[in-house]
Amino acid sequence: MPSSAPVVFLHAFPLGPGMWQSQVGALAGRKVLTPSFPGFGGRPPGGTSLDDFADAVVADMDAAGIGRAVVVGLSMGGYVAFRLHARSPERVAALVLADTKATADDEAARAKRTDQAARARREGVGWLVDAMVPVLLGETTLAERPKVRESVRGVIAAADPEGVARALIAMRDRPDSTPQLAGISVPVLAIAGDEDKVTPVAGARQIAEGVADGRLVVIPKAGHLSNLEDSPAFNGALLSFLQN
Ligand code: MLT
Repeated sequence: MPSSAPVVFLHAFPLGPGMWQSQVGALAGRKVLTPSFPGFGGRPPGGTSLDDFADAVVADMDAAGIGRAVVVGLSMGGYVAFRLHARSPERVAALVLADTKATADDEAARAKRTDQAARARREGVGWLVDAMVPVLLGETTLAERPKVRESVRGVIAAADPEGVARALIAMRDRPDSTPQLAGISVPVLAIAGDEDKVTPVAGARQIAEGVADGRLVVIPKAGHLSNLEDSPAFNGALLSFLQN
């Protein structure tokens, strides 16, 4: 990959682009873009499909003068990266797919998303903080990294309920990206925290083994938000991938 390619960071649910602060710092000197999906980071809600989110990212790349980029997506950001690659492959120089998976939701997960979207619209997002923090963060972070825990709680509490509802519907209805894997010819780095309960390591391994040019890095003692839970390890994996 061109070693100087810009890097576009796609955030997780229900977080925002602020989650990439450490990675942006580690890439000082390189052009980076950290878009907010519609309904997040102060951007008005718009669309209920991950294709809408992917198209919004491409529009942001156009506005920033970025043609082709290394696209880094964590969890929902990874789901969007798959859609971006499917719709606009010419814009993707390489993929970093962190704490995410190619597969679609099963029926039980789809039903849960429907309930949660309705609840966010009805009640706001206060309940989501307690529902998600213990799931998003690994056991080590929950026990030993109170700053990370408190900062994630704060970001979720500030999320826009309609943005949350639409993202839940968009994730619920996303297609299975597994058939896409064999056609991805750009270099791919899959990263997973070994304490990830939302998208366990097996999902990252499937991605790394399913593409033509894939590699896997597992980060010990990190959960689903591996870039926040062990930023030095995540940044090391990212930088080494970008330099090769
Ligand atoms: C995320 O971290 O983006 C979400 O937890 C992903 C999901 O709910 O599938």
